[in-house]
Amino acid sequence: MSDFRQEIGNRRTFAIISHPDAGKTTITEKFLLYGGAIQEAGMVKGKKNSRHAVSDWMEIEKQRGISVTSSVLQFRYGDKCINILDTPGHQDFSEDTYRTLMAADSAVMVIDASKGVEAQTRKLFKVCAMRGVPIFTFINKMDRDSRDPYELLEEIENELGIGTFAVNWPIGSGKEFKGVYDRMDEEVIAFEGADARHEAKATHLQFDSPELKALLSEMQYQTLADDMELLAGAGDAFDLDAVHHGKLSPVFFGSALTNFGVEPFLKKFLVMTPPPTARQADIGTIDPFEEKFSAFVFKIQANMNKAHRDRIAFMRICSGKFERGRDVWHVQGGKKIQLAQPQQLMAQDRSIVDEAYAGDIIGVFDPGIFSIGDTVCDPSRKCIFSGIPTFAPELFARVRQKDTLKRKQFVKGVEQIAQEGAIQIFHEPNSGMEEVIVGVVGQLQFEVLEYRLKNEYKVEIIREMLPYEHLRWIENVDAETFDYKALTLTSDTKVVQDFHGNYLLLFTSPWNISWALDHNEGLTLAEFSENT
Ligand code: G4P
Repeated sequence: MSDFRQEIGNRRTFAIISHPDAGKTTITEKFLLYGGAIQEAGMVKGKKNSRHAVSDWMEIEKQRGISVTSSVLQFRYGDKCINILDTPGHQDFSEDTYRTLMAADSAVMVIDASKGVEAQTRKLFKVCAMRGVPIFTFINKMDRDSRDPYELLEEIENELGIGTFAVNWPIGSGKEFKGVYDRMDEEVIAFEGADARHEAKATHLQFDSPELKALLSEMQYQTLADDMELLAGAGDAFDLDAVHHGKLSPVFFGSALTNFGVEPFLKKFLVMTPPPTARQADIGTIDPFEEKFSAFVFKIQANMNKAHRDRIAFMRICSGKFERGRDVWHVQGGKKIQLAQPQQLMAQDRSIVDEAYAGDIIGVFDPGIFSIGDTVCDPSRKCIFSGIPTFAPELFARVRQKDTLKRKQFVKGVEQIAQEGAIQIFHEPNSGMEEVIVGVVGQLQFEVLEYRLKNEYKVEIIREMLPYEHLRWIENVDAETFDYKALTLTSDTKVVQDFHGNYLLLFTSPWNISWALDHNEGLTLAEFSENT
């Protein structure tokens, strides 16, 4: 195989998703340790002892000990080159999280064994399902008392509408946790752990070995035998094709904190998860192994590092090889450019890259020319990737600057932050930036907005929360001629426009949405818009 094909074939690009506290950071840290990317546990995050996550970019994150922005981590493990897209698990996550999933080829869903599927996982999962992204499940914290494993699988299947295949099966939980039975390798990995603060010992034992019989109580041994029989008879069969289409999730049980079952999971996951997948563009499917370079921007971030004060556009390479200094075609800008200071990131450490391959994420210096969803490609083979959907925000506020003399900075700040995709901005029909209506997915984004306007643009704002919770794009109307006043709406429904001129409706309840649809013949509303 040529080096080029091998490089791409060995890439694995995935996102880790979880509800806060399920153990995503702990697992990520273990991955990095195996790959030699970090030397010491606790380097990624120590919430309580004030060490900060390597992905803590912004001051606000440090203050609150949370991860606001999604970071990208690259490291090698064996012959694989791994790109992990870290998604903030905090409840107040943003659209960024959704978009990050667009750049991944699969997702690892971390679930707390005592809690099962939680709100955040459900939300993120919806996005994966929309795109048919393969999902792998790691049920964590088996060293603590957990819920019944059958019940957990049933919950995943019912709540997320996906089949499950237990790759391994737990033997007890909490104080009685004795390990897992690996159904593929047909052996038990025995767990010997003193407490969650220390690494557990993992010993590989055959099912009928005297060592295993000595380790388990008679009842545990019998339960395991019964479980194996039951799973073999009743569960879904393993079907890699179904996994790749996001229809079947391989499930692994383990305990990240004691480092039990994480490396076996990584090894199997890397075999099962697909290499860079083909992407849809206007000229058809773009194969990652095509020699011609192409990529799309999925995230823009300003002022990541105070020392740099810059703006970085993150791109997912979809095909071919990126070479530093080579001209590329920026489709939306309609011109040839060179990608300046291309870099790969290991959280705060940046290194300039000379080449990168399909599947990789690179950050490039953005002088203000890129928008989310933009395509860059080889000038000799132009294409446009399908747009990244804009999701409907759920929280709205009217925002204006405190000091009227700071109007210019206010407009610039709000526009730039909106361009990065951190917030969405709207205005009343036919009015300009007099007052801006800001829509966000999570409350924290308002705080980030306030903080950034103050720190980066020196503008203080007044924010007045609005009662709306639902937003819909009005489809199939010509923005130039549309007579929004002719709509029949409840008094608590509001018409706004986005900055592309599109009309939208803000609603306080789903009931009002139905009402609007019932009373306006021909009205079509969309929950998210494709901005190409
Ligand atoms: P997150 O990124 O998904 O938010 O979760 P994170 O890894 O930060 O883990 C949340 C808490 O759960 C941490 O404890 C972590 O140590 C603990 N944890 C993670 N995996 C396991 C596990 O397998 N078993 C047990 N018993 N605990 C686990 P914390 O007290 O919030 O923080 P820290 O003081 O440990 O850093």
